[in-house]
Amino acid sequence: MMCRFMWAAPVRGGNGAVILHCYGSVGTLAIQPLQVGMNKTLLHHQARLHDSPPVAEIQAPRPMRDAAIALIIQGHTTFKLPAAAQSLFWDICDMYPAIPDKTRQMFSFPECTDGFMLQGMEYAKYTGDVDLCDRYCYWHKNRSLHANHVFSESHLYQSTSLYEQHVHAIADGILREIWQFFHAEEEINVRDSSYFQYCAYGNHQQIVDRYYLQGKHEDGHLITLIKPTRDGLVIFPRGEETPVHLHDDEIIIIIITGSLLTALSDGQIPPMYHAVQNSYMKIGRASLVYFVIPNLERPYRTLLGKKQVDLLKIANESHMAFGNTALA
Ligand SMILES: [Fe+2]
Repeated sequence: MMCRFMWAAPVRGGNGAVILHCYGSVGTLAIQPLQVGMNKTLLHHQARLHDSPPVAEIQAPRPMRDAAIALIIQGHTTFKLPAAAQSLFWDICDMYPAIPDKTRQMFSFPECTDGFMLQGMEYAKYTGDVDLCDRYCYWHKNRSLHANHVFSESHLYQSTSLYEQHVHAIADGILREIWQFFHAEEEINVRDSSYFQYCAYGNHQQIVDRYYLQGKHEDGHLITLIKPTRDGLVIFPRGEETPVHLHDDEIIIIIITGSLLTALSDGQIPPMYHAVQNSYMKIGRASLVYFVIPNLERPYRTLLGKKQVDLLKIANESHMAFGNTALA
């Protein structure tokens, strides 16, 4: 049953599960019990939860809050793009194939996972299979580097920069809601550590004898925002392969969780595994992705247990497992 969630702080049920009060007549939904054991940290955490504000003080539901709750409970959600971002999405998809090879070679910075990168430079996290797509990445923090190249004056680059601002605003807002939900004392900053990636699955790549064009994996980030041009993405809620069908409504993107959020939430928010299925047809497919990574130049403690966690180590291990260089 669909349910819109009131913005309620987590409270603890008798079995130790974190319970989220639900708006309407559905009752309550529970996410799995904490794994930290009945130690001082947990007792401290319980005391914090019991200090939660009464329901009467809770504000009305909002889209970003709903999305945050859905990510906490089920690891995936959808969100509406602003109309301007939707227009930019199609502009980028239209312009990408026309970029000359020479431009792609000039605007390529694989040492920082930026610019144009050909198929073969990224591979599956767990199997080593090459991902059957070309990539075009854009890092907001590298704008001054980009400005040294004529490509930064192109319509594609400008549209990418604008699109990134839209998806960043969505990601930032949802993460702030998640942090607020957990009563986090420290702010989360993802502005200069996150990046956009255009994945181009060319039509010649769709007929190879592989079930997945990109194997099952989780991204190793906080969250990932994905807007594909056609079907192919599958996610694995509760381990079951589930197709993601978005293009009935062209302004919808899907958002999924990654293992950095798992680490920060003391294991409470699991990462959403996903893959790209092979259609076995000569049909090109593109996917615009925003990988949301926290500032890795500062220390972190977990949101619930307040334990120190080495996010840089976790993030780098994952990022490099795809064939990329270290993040920081
Ligand atoms: Fe992924």
